[in-house]
Amino acid sequence: MYNEIQETVKFLKDKGISTPDYGIVLGTGLGSLVSIIDIEIEIPYSEIPNFPVSTVQGHSGKLIYGALSGKKVLALQGRFHFYEGWSMQQATFPIRVMKYLGIENLIVSNASGGVNSNFDVGDIMLINDHINMMPEHPLRGENDDRFGDRFVDMHEPYDLKMLAKMESIAKKNKIKIHKGVYLALQGPTFETPAEYRMVRIIGADTVGMSTVPEVIVAKHMKMKCLGISIITDLGIEGHIEEVSHKAVQNAAKLAEKGVCKLVEEFVLYN
Ligand code: HPA
Repeated sequence: MYNEIQETVKFLKDKGISTPDYGIVLGTGLGSLVSIIDIEIEIPYSEIPNFPVSTVQGHSGKLIYGALSGKKVLALQGRFHFYEGWSMQQATFPIRVMKYLGIENLIVSNASGGVNSNFDVGDIMLINDHINMMPEHPLRGENDDRFGDRFVDMHEPYDLKMLAKMESIAKKNKIKIHKGVYLALQGPTFETPAEYRMVRIIGADTVGMSTVPEVIVAKHMKMKCLGISIITDLGIEGHIEEVSHKAVQNAAKLAEKGVCKLVEEFVLYN
């Protein structure tokens, strides 16, 4: 994989992408963050050597490089999920590429189901920890020491300084946020009521189908991570309704303006 990463990185550098300040993974419904990026280079995944190609509707599959708040950002519009059939290594390949482009700071976003009774549809949660319940692990197999250590420290998966900075930005802009734990399941089914209950009981606030493998791989390479989750449906007894991908996308839109504002200001201040 190391050689493939170098090949992809060379391709992107040759296209003019150089040492972005931030990498951003745009989750469901967050594609509009792209509208506040001053785009310099836009490349469909299908044109990037070794890149997987996203198959989920609403994840359009483009790499975007440009300026946001005067900083250089590289955004993945469309991510790769394990449930699509990608291996964990393939699904997290773009994160490795980001690191080798010189990115040290990663912002990951997603849509999730809220299981904390204080949460509402359209709320924003900053992820302060996660529980990995995916059936496969992106670091399973022989370790490539060029990427990082065999045994990866996870005592601070989400960077506390980034979290504190985002909290103060939210406060200043009067944007309501929660902080909490994101639990990752494989999907693609949404949870049954009993599964939502399990998620709550074992200590999570939200549940989704992404992000955790990306953060694990980022931590393997000692990148700093900030995680933002939009609550798009509720897994709380008495509030559980039919969920669909469309409903998730629509609900994510409720929070889009707030999330864009948060990210824009976050990137602005170092
Ligand atoms: N469960 C899992 N993934 C999700 C959910 C959910 O309720 N909402 C958005 N993504």
